Amino acid sequence: MTEETVAFDIEDGIAWVRFNRPEKRNCMNPALNRRMMEVLDQLEYRDDVGVLVLSGEGNAWSAGMDLKEYFRETEAKGLGAVRKAQGEAYGWWRRLRWYRKPTIAMVNGWCFGGGYGPLFACDLAFAADEAQFALSEINWGILPGGGATKVVVDLLSMRDAMYHALTGELIDGRKAAAWKLVNESLPLEKLKARVTEVANILLKKNPVALKATKDAIRRVGEMTYDNAEDYLVRAQEAANSYDNDGRKEGIRQFIDEKSYKPGLGAYDKAR
Ligand code: ACO
Repeated sequence: MTEETVAFDIEDGIAWVRFNRPEKRNCMNPALNRRMMEVLDQLEYRDDVGVLVLSGEGNAWSAGMDLKEYFRETEAKGLGAVRKAQGEAYGWWRRLRWYRKPTIAMVNGWCFGGGYGPLFACDLAFAADEAQFALSEINWGILPGGGATKVVVDLLSMRDAMYHALTGELIDGRKAAAWKLVNESLPLEKLKARVTEVANILLKKNPVALKATKDAIRRVGEMTYDNAEDYLVRAQEAANSYDNDGRKEGIRQFIDEKSYKPGLGAYDKAR
């Protein structure tokens, strides 16, 4: 059954990965966490995958951790089992945070608690207006763990983060966008088209520059200005060691060939 907890298709450079336990509102049990890591492994270095989109089957994105299988049944097996299950969940979220390809969360429905881990792990996030988000931990008597507190503190204002965590109240996609928990919210029937449009923008960019940029955005937040300046010089030089021709070609097509303008779009990386 493990394979069936995650579904995916690859189409025109985009890997569409889906939480696939719709009858359980895509809550994350240990089998799903293990399978998700395998799927991320399989997709990360494929040449036909340029962008990964994470969404959910049915009317949920993810109802957070599985209270029965991830919490109660695992705790019944002892601390070793608990730590193992935590490692499996946190492991694939971490893998996603530093994924080789740009990633987009396409939040089609319910998103609770532990779901904030993979939500934050995705570089960009687009939600349906109809989606519903909550840190519901407080409603069943725990603090928002597994990184969820860190996610709202990093993304929201202190007042919004505090209100969200203390009340456990639902917010819809529109409010999630206003609070900057996601980039944008739009009607569910338009969500996939918009995500496809954004993915296609990313597919046109230099992939080495995309990876260097997404890592830089995540890394520099915790650095002083001087440390960031130094890191960014070194990160670009490291990127050059993978692809030193791309940026030269980008300059050539603009300055010599005059075939595009970097201020208005990407150079043609096929040439
Ligand atoms: N853990 C375990 N089972 C779950 C979870 C979950 N997080 N979410 C849903 N399910 C199960 C239900 O128990 C039910 O199982 P059953 O069919 O065997 O009875 C099935 O999924 C469908 O759920 P319903 O509650 O019947 O679906 P409904 O559409 O009415 O409600 C809702 C959806 C609001 C998402 C509700 O299921 C819910 O509140 N789920 C829990 C959300 C939550 O607080 N998650 C934990 C966050 S904290 C954390 O992740 C650390």
